[in-house]
Amino acid sequence: MGRLDLDTVVKIETESYEFPWLRRTFDDCLTASYECWIGELLGREEPDEIMGYGILHVSANEAYLLNICVKKQSQGCGFGRDIVDYLIDRAKAKRAKTMFLEVRPLNAVARELYDSVGFRQIGIRKGYYPALEGREDGLVLALSLDGE
Ligand SMILES: CC(C)(COP(=O)(O)OP(=O)(O)OC[C@H]1O[C@@H](n2cnc3c(N)ncnc32)[C@H](O)[C@@H]1OP(=O)(O)O)[C@@H](O)C(=O)NCCC(=O)NCCS
Repeated sequence: MGRLDLDTVVKIETESYEFPWLRRTFDDCLTASYECWIGELLGREEPDEIMGYGILHVSANEAYLLNICVKKQSQGCGFGRDIVDYLIDRAKAKRAKTMFLEVRPLNAVARELYDSVGFRQIGIRKGYYPALEGREDGLVLALSLDGE
């Protein structure tokens, strides 16, 4: 992901989340040299069409999946799994031993995806997410990258 991608990234983000990240947050992730990746569908559009993106922060053997999102019209076609698999590979390449993420309890699609690649719940962050009424808890999931 580069800054030229941000118009599209922010559009996908805004269409997909009730509480989207602001452009500034993506900008900060790029400035901080986090692992910011877009998934493109090659050759169908000019320029290649951005289908989704993922953002990972790796520090001291720990990887944090900060955001993953697929364009609303293209969800359910396997792109999310591709992006997760790619970010796991990046985390391993940077020698992370564990990968962490937070997910909303009611986000069944994301939970299914994470479960299917081996993430397991290790905790709950009370009131972690903004919600339409008050706050919503975040489930903390972890995936061991050791010995794979
Ligand atoms: C969550 C998200 C990234 C998943 O990406 P996706 O491209 O839609 O998912 P995929 O097509 O790769 O499916 C991966 C798995 O998710 C699960 N899944 C996908 N669609 C599903 C549905 N409608 N119902 C239940 N599970 C579903 C399945 O386990 C699926 O694996 P399978 O196809 O082998 O059965 C995507 O839906 C998205 O961007 N959602 C909005 C943003 C978001 O919630 N991000 C996660 C924040 S923690």
